[in-house]
Amino acid sequence: MKKTNNQALVIFGASGDLTYRKLIPAIFDLYRNDSLPEGYAVLGVSRSRFTDKQFREKMKEGIRQFAHYKDATAEHLNAFLSRLYYLSIDTGKGEEYAAVTNKLHTLNDKHHLEQNYIFYLSTPPSLYTIIPKYLYGQGLTLQQKGFRRIIIEKPFGHDLPSAFDLNEQLTVFFREEQIYRIDHYLGKETVQNLMVTRFANGIYEPLWNRHFVQHVEITAAESLGVGDRGGYYDRSGALRDMIQNHLLQVLSLVAMEAPGKITPEDIRYEKLKVFRSLRPLSQKDLKMNVIRGQYTEATVRGKHYRGYREENNVNSTSRTETYAAMKIFIDNWRWQDVPFYIRTGKRLPTNVTEVVIHFRPSPQKLFKSADRSCHSDNQLILRIQPDEGILLKTGMKVPGKGFEVKSVHMDFHYSELNDHYIPSAYERLILDCMNGDNTLYMSSDAAKETWRFVQPVLDYWENDREAPLHGYPAGSWGPDVADELIEGNENTWRYPCKNLAEDGVYCEL
Ligand code: BG6
Repeated sequence: MKKTNNQALVIFGASGDLTYRKLIPAIFDLYRNDSLPEGYAVLGVSRSRFTDKQFREKMKEGIRQFAHYKDATAEHLNAFLSRLYYLSIDTGKGEEYAAVTNKLHTLNDKHHLEQNYIFYLSTPPSLYTIIPKYLYGQGLTLQQKGFRRIIIEKPFGHDLPSAFDLNEQLTVFFREEQIYRIDHYLGKETVQNLMVTRFANGIYEPLWNRHFVQHVEITAAESLGVGDRGGYYDRSGALRDMIQNHLLQVLSLVAMEAPGKITPEDIRYEKLKVFRSLRPLSQKDLKMNVIRGQYTEATVRGKHYRGYREENNVNSTSRTETYAAMKIFIDNWRWQDVPFYIRTGKRLPTNVTEVVIHFRPSPQKLFKSADRSCHSDNQLILRIQPDEGILLKTGMKVPGKGFEVKSVHMDFHYSELNDHYIPSAYERLILDCMNGDNTLYMSSDAAKETWRFVQPVLDYWENDREAPLHGYPAGSWGPDVADELIEGNENTWRYPCKNLAEDGVYCEL
């Protein structure tokens, strides 16, 4: 394997939740897996005042709670923590960036970083153009000695014009190949496995098209509400928060053609072709094929859940959607007229992300079924989380007289691979960036195309006062009207449960 160069990670927004819960625990896991180079340092930068010691103490708690190796020995922990440093500056003021340069010089000498730096922006988006400008002002974006890369967290823009704008501004200071737009869904093992399942097996590919697939479902359900993120979420909503990025990325991996080679360019190119083939939503589609909902208060199993409008920092008359479902078409030879149903929501009955490929039914119903589903629907379920795995539903004879058919399952669970360590999404993505591999990061074109696709929905919801917003009780599967999206009498959404093999409308309640 290629050796990872010595380098530093500079995290802007280091006092925030993402650093504490995800980034530092992921870097610690990299350290425990021996994936960090000999010369390595992390510099946290933020406005809050911490000493190195205080920062390390705080990060230690984060590791204890969120790392895979949370039970690491004090020796391991201390060795790792000694590589963490902190610098307090006002990131909005250009004159304060000299301190970043000085600190990096010191760390460079101490840890032999070879002037290789990654800048990670885990800050409010309003700083996404300001920080690069001031880094540029310090000469820190130029790759004369070492490499310089920048990782940008979502949201990459708020809509199509702002995504264009952000891109224009960023590329003044960094070249496209230096920019890593992170979508943590792409770092998930099971999301990467979508491509492997499809292209490492000869048996799926011949069936993976409009001739054999009736429709595709992509669900990302969350049982939590917006928690303490009301301020952010109320300006965002489910479409921006989950669909424009995570779910369209998953869709592209389900729908793409096989890349010529497994290179970043080939894979990104094939995904981009999918985004470019998304059928633009007409006015009629916006009314018929897109649904939004907002959770209302409910009591589930004796526990009371407040409605979205009662959440902290949410406007009491808010029309932000906490649920969105869409019927999407991809205009190309493989997928013409095959509906892709996408849905996501907060305060749904369970936490599940999965893709379901519904195959066309057998042409003739020869046998009586013991349950309704087995004739009409062979399903391949690709479970992204939890109970990660794959399940194929197929019809089999019920033993005994006659020919009664029952739906049975053939399944594989990742947990069966207990000798395999599954890295977290951030672990994988940070390591890729350290090695200069942007395959699992979003290209600027992909970001623009996905915004282009959702923009008419954003406009419709914002400007048309008649655009409905359906309430749904917390703990339910979203507004009832979402069921009408799915065509055909015998088809409904799958109602997944925590366990891959189970489904049922309220199985987790
Ligand atoms: C984030 C969204 O990008 O993804 C959150 O902002 C959402 O609202 C989260 O909860 C879901 O990620 P995961 O990995 O828990 O499925």
